[in-house]
Amino acid sequence: MRSQVGIIGAGPAGLFLAHLLHRAGIDAVILEHRSRAEVEEAVRAGVLEYWVVALMHELGLGERLAREGHFDDGISLQWDRERHHVDIRELTEGKRVTVYPQHEVLKDLIAAWIAQDGEIIFSVDDTKIRDLDTQHPAIDFRRDGTSEMQTLQCDYVVGADGFHGPARQAIPASHRTEYHKVYPFGWLGVLVNAPRSWHELIYANQAEGFALLSTRTPQLQRMYLQCRPDDDVAAWSDARIWEQLHSRLDTDGWTLTEGKIVQKGIVPLRSFVCEPMQCGRLFLAGDAAHIVPPTGAKGLNLAVADVWVLAHALDVKYRHNSRNEVDRYSTTCLRRVWKAERFSWYMTTMLHHNHAETPFERRIHRADLDLVRTSRAAAASLAENYVGLPFDAPAAGKA
Ligand code: FAD
Ligand code: DHB
Repeated sequence: MRSQVGIIGAGPAGLFLAHLLHRAGIDAVILEHRSRAEVEEAVRAGVLEYWVVALMHELGLGERLAREGHFDDGISLQWDRERHHVDIRELTEGKRVTVYPQHEVLKDLIAAWIAQDGEIIFSVDDTKIRDLDTQHPAIDFRRDGTSEMQTLQCDYVVGADGFHGPARQAIPASHRTEYHKVYPFGWLGVLVNAPRSWHELIYANQAEGFALLSTRTPQLQRMYLQCRPDDDVAAWSDARIWEQLHSRLDTDGWTLTEGKIVQKGIVPLRSFVCEPMQCGRLFLAGDAAHIVPPTGAKGLNLAVADVWVLAHALDVKYRHNSRNEVDRYSTTCLRRVWKAERFSWYMTTMLHHNHAETPFERRIHRADLDLVRTSRAAAASLAENYVGLPFDAPAAGKA
């Protein structure tokens, strides 16, 4: 098997890359470890930056998003039982918050890729990358249910295989530096059959800990509670979840609408960056190269930003035989990555209760929140980061 680009992983990074390359006339094959159903059902991120929404429309993938997405003018921040509206639309010259879940994005991308005869192989095992320092790198893999290894020969390999995938390890340890931060808390996420309780997302910081109210469909809501990183879902009965959601989200005269809890799960929170994001003919994209805590809603968006840069760089390489952009891939991406790391860390530390922090640090976070309430410049900075920072030239959407 042969293709110009071999992509490992059918998450947001791998699938957006395949579509962007196709638009540039570059062929790609995607190898995915999970089954199609598993990819399409995993409940993860929810918020799309404004330019990701525009990109989906440009790629002809925006029809269902336009119909089923939630377009909010802003978000609410809440502390001391008071709710403050951050008018993102007004602060960013009309850009809006879009809630359209990651697995719905993936369904749209997979269906369109298959409809245009794009090659994607699900349920592969034993993926191994080799010959990265040659002109002809390859990916060995095994198809579901077979014992025979197959090989995908390519010009370039893209590791879009998430945090636990093998691609990052293919870069010799002596060639990479990894930056870590582990937070002493996790998120318990629940899906609830109920109507929307509030017209926009609420990020709440209460003494008991952080809570987030988000949405999925008019009848299905997404909610998160700060919990211990090693917490057991079994320790969270429905009654305990409602008691904590009410105590962290309710305000005088407003109460959260309850419903049947149909799913529960816990994720740990961490920050991570691998530098550089490339080695020879291997490029890392998305969670394979970096992780952000979810409080800033940046994980998915950052994955798409990486592959937008990569698709443009590969287009320049194939079209003009110039390696300039390809060689700069990691440097270009890391500028945006570190800004997203900063914003996600800021939102996380400002909004969570951290037992390890001193009273001084807690007061500082309170001052950060109050600054957003009282200073237009501080609110505008939060809004610009949340809705999606502008790209360095060339402009987004012109890959
Ligand atoms: P992924 O989506 O992880 O995709 C990688 C793909 O590679 C997977 O499909 C995987 O099966 C495949 N793969 C792995 N190994 C191999 C292999 N050896 N061979 C072939 N394929 C392989 N972000 C938020 O902003 N808000 C949230 O609420 C939120 N919740 C999250 C919950 C969970 C449980 C997780 C794990 C992440 C969450 N994130 C959240 C982060 C966000 O979903 C990710 O940043 C985003 O999915 C990154 O996309 P990606 O394509 O880089 O990686
Ligand atoms: C959702 C997740 C986030 O991490 C976030 O900051 C906002 C919304 C969500 O899953 O809806």
